[in-house]
Amino acid sequence: MPKKRSPAAVKKSSPVADRVRWQAGTMVYPAPAALVSCGNRDTGFNLITVAWTGNVCSAPAQCYISVRPERYSYRLIKETGEFAINLTTAALVRAVDWCGVKSGRDFDKFKECNLTAQPAFSIGAPVVAESPLAIECRVKQIIPLGAHDMFLAEVVALNAAGKLLDREQSFDLASAQPLVYLHGKYYALGRPVGYFGFSVAKKKRVKS
Ligand SMILES: Cc1cc2nc3c(=O)[nH]c(=O)nc-3n(C[C@H](O)[C@H](O)[C@H](O)COP(=O)(O)O)c2cc1C
Repeated sequence: MPKKRSPAAVKKSSPVADRVRWQAGTMVYPAPAALVSCGNRDTGFNLITVAWTGNVCSAPAQCYISVRPERYSYRLIKETGEFAINLTTAALVRAVDWCGVKSGRDFDKFKECNLTAQPAFSIGAPVVAESPLAIECRVKQIIPLGAHDMFLAEVVALNAAGKLLDREQSFDLASAQPLVYLHGKYYALGRPVGYFGFSVAKKKRVKS
């Protein structure tokens, strides 16, 4: 993870009022604070916290995680070609942080964090039963980028917690307080301030 930026990183004042130039860096925030599960029955299971992750294509559904080659998880993901991105919630924040500072070389992270490794639908890596949604992925390409390699992957199944499905079978992820990572801190998402397309939605006429 990049170090937090401080005013010391300021290089030059901008001629435009109230703008400052910082050194280039990775600042697309907030990022998901995901627990990526990897490994299989032969290699053993592991968890790694990942913030460098996202969607890259809707159809076929594809996403990515970027992992440093020195991570224990890197080899597991490369060898098995599979992983699951487990979305996290405020209730999982300790496990998220712990799995992001300890290594599977030294610990059984599922056991240490009291998390349940549940068999996935389509891959050999487990999913985290306590996660509201696990995205089961199969690696398509490994792209070396520098500090991190990007695992570009196909989404082969979505593995959702049944309790978050409402009567109409729509998925209420917001009620699980999804966790995000923002410049060194974890936040739980809160109050909605809009919905897709609301800015152009026609207002309902109120009968007079
Ligand atoms: C909030 C947070 C986000 C992280 N994001 C990444 C990431 O995107 N890629 C990465 O390689 N490491 C990331 N890390 C560091 C790894 O999770 C950490 O080095 C972990 O101990 C590796 O586990 P492993 O040795 O069992 O693979 C992150 C850590 C934290 C706390």
